Amino acid sequence: MKKALIAMVAVVAFAGSAFAAAQENYEYKGGSFGKVAFPHKAHMKLGCAKCHEGAPKKVEINKDVAHNQLCVKCHKAEAKGPQGCKDCHKK
Ligand code: HEC
Ligand code: HEC
Ligand code: HEC
Repeated sequence: MKKALIAMVAVVAFAGSAFAAAQENYEYKGGSFGKVAFPHKAHMKLGCAKCHEGAPKKVEINKDVAHNQLCVKCHKAEAKGPQGCKDCHKK
């Protein structure tokens, strides 16, 4: 009985590790303009669906997504968060 319980806990722990947990902060390279910080935790209160389709999982960030679909687009629409190049990109 005890052995079975230990085995179950191990299986659950292993299954859990197949899904990456959200980091509190991410950082992108941002090319020659300098790196960009993304404070994920500070954005979570906006609602997961603002950025994640369906179950929250990895979102591929590149220049087009960052500027035209997520980061800059939303900051401009809501007039909140950094909007100038150097407000996001830091050397
Ligand atoms: C809200 C934050 C934000 C603002 C404002 C912003 N960017 Fe970005 N930018 C990003 C993110 C995030 C990326 C993706 C970085 C990556 O993929 O490494 C990016 C990517 C880029 C890249 C491509 C880097 C590469 O090598 O792929 C360039 C160039 C760039 N930005 C220039 C600018 C310029 C110029 C402005 C102002 C007109 C600007 N950005 C404003 C967040 C921002
Ligand atoms: C403002 C946009 C935004 C909001 C809102 C947001 N996320 Fe995210 N989240 C992202 C981005 C972008 C990534 C990917 C970061 C990376 O790997 O570059 C991410 C990554 C994650 C990951 C890690 C996925 C993986 O496999 O690495 C989890 C889990 C997650 N988010 C959960 C949530 C939950 C839960 C909420 C709501 C409470 C939420 N997110 C709200 C943008 C957002
Ligand atoms: C759905 C809208 C939305 C999206 C998408 C979004 N943001 Fe924001 N962001 C906000 C809002 C709203 C704030 C202001 C938060 C506040 O004042 O509490 C903010 C604030 C920030 C701040 C300043 C945080 C601080 O502590 O001052 C940074 C940096 C930032 N965002 C980066 C990003 C980057 C990088 C992305 C894309 C990966 C992104 N954001 C995507 C809405 C968004």
